[in-house]
Amino acid sequence: MRAAIFDKQGFENLQVKDNIQNPKISDYDVLIRVVVAGINPIDYYVISGYRTIQYQQQENDPKRLNKKAPLTSELPVKPLPHIPGAEFAGVIEKKGLRVRNLKEGDRVVIYNRLFDNNCEMCVNGNEMLCRNGGLISVNNDGGFSEYVCLPEKNVFKIPDNINWNTSVSLPVSGLTAFHALKEAQLKFNEFLLIFGASGNTGMFAVQLGKRMGSKVIAISRKKWVKAECGADYLISDYNHIIDKVKEITDEKMADVVISSLGKDTWRNSFSCTGINGRWISFGTLTGSNVELNIQELYSKQLKLIGSTGGNRADLRKLIEYVSYSSKISNPLKIKVWKRFNLEDIDKAFESLIDKEREGRVLLDINKE
Ligand SMILES: NC(=O)c1ccc[n+]([C@@H]2O[C@H](COP(=O)([O-])OP(=O)(O)OC[C@H]3O[C@@H](n4cnc5c(N)ncnc54)[C@H](OP(=O)(O)O)[C@@H]3O)[C@@H](O)[C@H]2O)c1
Ligand SMILES: [Zn+2]
Repeated sequence: MRAAIFDKQGFENLQVKDNIQNPKISDYDVLIRVVVAGINPIDYYVISGYRTIQYQQQENDPKRLNKKAPLTSELPVKPLPHIPGAEFAGVIEKKGLRVRNLKEGDRVVIYNRLFDNNCEMCVNGNEMLCRNGGLISVNNDGGFSEYVCLPEKNVFKIPDNINWNTSVSLPVSGLTAFHALKEAQLKFNEFLLIFGASGNTGMFAVQLGKRMGSKVIAISRKKWVKAECGADYLISDYNHIIDKVKEITDEKMADVVISSLGKDTWRNSFSCTGINGRWISFGTLTGSNVELNIQELYSKQLKLIGSTGGNRADLRKLIEYVSYSSKISNPLKIKVWKRFNLEDIDKAFESLIDKEREGRVLLDINKE
């Protein structure tokens, strides 16, 4: 089969090869013919070995990918050679003898966490925190590949009225945003402030936050976030975020702040969290180490919350909700900017890190 694969981390080592052996399925597995894959920052970290975006240091073309890996990987992966790809959807080609709920021909999306289903985290419905777990595409091969074999417990059927662009966006982008809003205990009529609102997770956070009854303030350079995702307010000027939030909230600031952009937006995002507010993050796109003013934290009784992925119950809920929202003619919208064939995977990552990006970047792998 054809897959994107590397022997060693670093974009310079990423190749698309045709002669990769097809995965073999056990009785409890399904073989998925991958139709489409999402390009996410996690895939960039997996391939590059860096945990922040690295641009090429050449003045003539500063926007291009830095293809050299760091001397020591910031995110080691296994096995090597390795197939990346954390978010993908496809059609079941073959099923194992003991697979009960799926059949050949079903359109499916994957749940991208590895979990034992037995530790106390899993038993309490927190598969993403499994003590013996990991992430598909980090701790095993991912989906930038014609075929993937996975246990039935990692695979969910997609209703016919959810298209491929939306389906593929549910397991990483959608579920992460949904889980974060739940962890932050977002309530009706609260102000929700979202950094990176035009991003993969941001698009979902805006739309789900709105549907959960909050007043959504989106921060993004991209004007379409207001009209297309339904944010109530849009702040596009990164230099005047605090003043704008003061104005919009009548000086109260936001009840919930989602900020997964890391170091560069830490100070602003923390200052925008109102008294008794919740600041929540599931990522650090621009770096992890920041300074915290503890006095500000306790005197405003702020809650700093970490969140990661989501569980299978919520993925199922999200799939059902997205299908329902289409039935009532109010579908969740996924804006796709560019799509590429597997051969052009480098171009897909150039697009992911392009500051002018206007929506998702997807890889078309097989025809349906
Ligand atoms: N823990 C988990 O389970 C999990 C799951 C998904 C994602 N994440 C993490 O969450 C973070 C966001 O993910 P995502 O997929 O939503 O990212 P994304 O699609 O790349 O979106 C990032 C957005 O942030 C804005 N931005 C502002 N400053 C930026 C900067 N210096 N560099 C790049 N973008 C900047 C951009 O919007 P504008 O141009 O409009 O301002 C961009 O669209 C990442 O760190 C990712 O690794 C974690
Ligand atoms: Zn477990």
